[in-house]
Amino acid sequence: MKNDHSCQAGQEAASTPAATESSAGGFSRMRSKLAFDRLVEMGAKMGMENPLFLCHERAAKATTLIDGKEYLNFSTYDYLDINAHPEITEAVTSAATVYGTSAGASRLVGGERPPHRELERAFADLYGVEDCIVYVSGHATNVSTLGFLLGHRDAIFHDGLAHNSLVQGARLSHAARYSYNHNDCDALEEMLKAKRAEHKRAIIVTEGLFSMDGNIPDLPRIIQLKKQYDCMLLVDEAHSLGVLGKTGRGAHEYFGIDANEVDMWMSTLSKSMCGCGGFIAGKHELVEFLKYGSPGFVFSVGMPPVIAVACHKALDIMLREPERVHKLQGISRFFVDYAASIGLDTGAAQGYAIVPVMVGDPMVAGFLSNALFKRGIYVMPITFPAVKEGTDRLRFFLSAAHTEEHIRKALDAVKEEIPKAQAIVEKYKSEHAEEYLSE
Ligand SMILES: Cc1ncc(COP(=O)(O)O)c(C=O)c1O
Repeated sequence: MKNDHSCQAGQEAASTPAATESSAGGFSRMRSKLAFDRLVEMGAKMGMENPLFLCHERAAKATTLIDGKEYLNFSTYDYLDINAHPEITEAVTSAATVYGTSAGASRLVGGERPPHRELERAFADLYGVEDCIVYVSGHATNVSTLGFLLGHRDAIFHDGLAHNSLVQGARLSHAARYSYNHNDCDALEEMLKAKRAEHKRAIIVTEGLFSMDGNIPDLPRIIQLKKQYDCMLLVDEAHSLGVLGKTGRGAHEYFGIDANEVDMWMSTLSKSMCGCGGFIAGKHELVEFLKYGSPGFVFSVGMPPVIAVACHKALDIMLREPERVHKLQGISRFFVDYAASIGLDTGAAQGYAIVPVMVGDPMVAGFLSNALFKRGIYVMPITFPAVKEGTDRLRFFLSAAHTEEHIRKALDAVKEEIPKAQAIVEKYKSEHAEEYLSE
């Protein structure tokens, strides 16, 4: 695996004086505290090539091009195989000629372009709720919404595997933060019983489909708890929009619930919607409050109108062609079943677009990723701090364009390479026990 950060910008950055320790104010020493960095460093000592920051030479879809070679790709969020769709390219090209590529300023002061409100209306209609606000970043949507809406007298009850953006938002808010065991509604109820009464307002935060394990929360039960304990509820649909339900409308369609039962539907636009940014859909009053106060909206530039056009087109294509959703669901099911048939552990995955293959050691995951890359398969290792220590894995993102042949090729290769990766790591551990992943 060649990784000299071969994209042009990376090369320049590495050779500028700013990258030296003296002018960087000691960041190289600080970097040694980062878990990812330590793993890369440890991996290099063991002969592993850095799988991160590889440069792709075209839109990454079910296959991708790296350094002139085609790879089977399991590391893209393009679940519905819509990215780079000719209709999107055409719509974006004509929008750019009218609006340019920047919103120019925050929408509050710089004004809006028609694609902003059209996109917000489309998402509000998708859920059948009153209104929607679109932010320029998915991560900032969560940070800014939670950070702004809650305060020190409030409480946030979030799933133990909630995405970093949700946790950062909770921290920023200064509300009391209670993290319940992943997908454990009994644990959530115990916490609500014990702690809800101590706080003024409270919100429960979960995801529609969990991004590391590919599993789904018991949303009907969470809605019942939200009502019983007088809480708001935010559901992050980053990975469930386009993936769950007969037509990809997400968790409410999957469970057949009225979307108005949930106070805030959040999603990023960087996954099935093929753009970037995020939204909160819910009551008009809530959306207006966020529009006038949420810092990631008020003090940040509006979404580029061309991105709003791209996301809107992607949504139209999703709704017009539900067969994409069915293909994605079918191939995801096949992945889980085939993995089980050859003895691979896919953890808690329920067969919807995200499927981990559990490995249990960060270095084994890294060597496995290296070995697969050499066999033309691009899949990323996921290690601490993204997941709990000891639950290290390869994470496969599936696409409607993957075929059964792709899946067999990849999983047969994983099966063959696991013992080899384990042997490399075991050998190193036995020779350098004191050094292996020590602080
Ligand atoms: C559950 C979840 N929420 C929010 C985000 C942040 O979205 P974005 O990457 O579009 O900023 C992600 C990103 O992967 C995510 O997985």
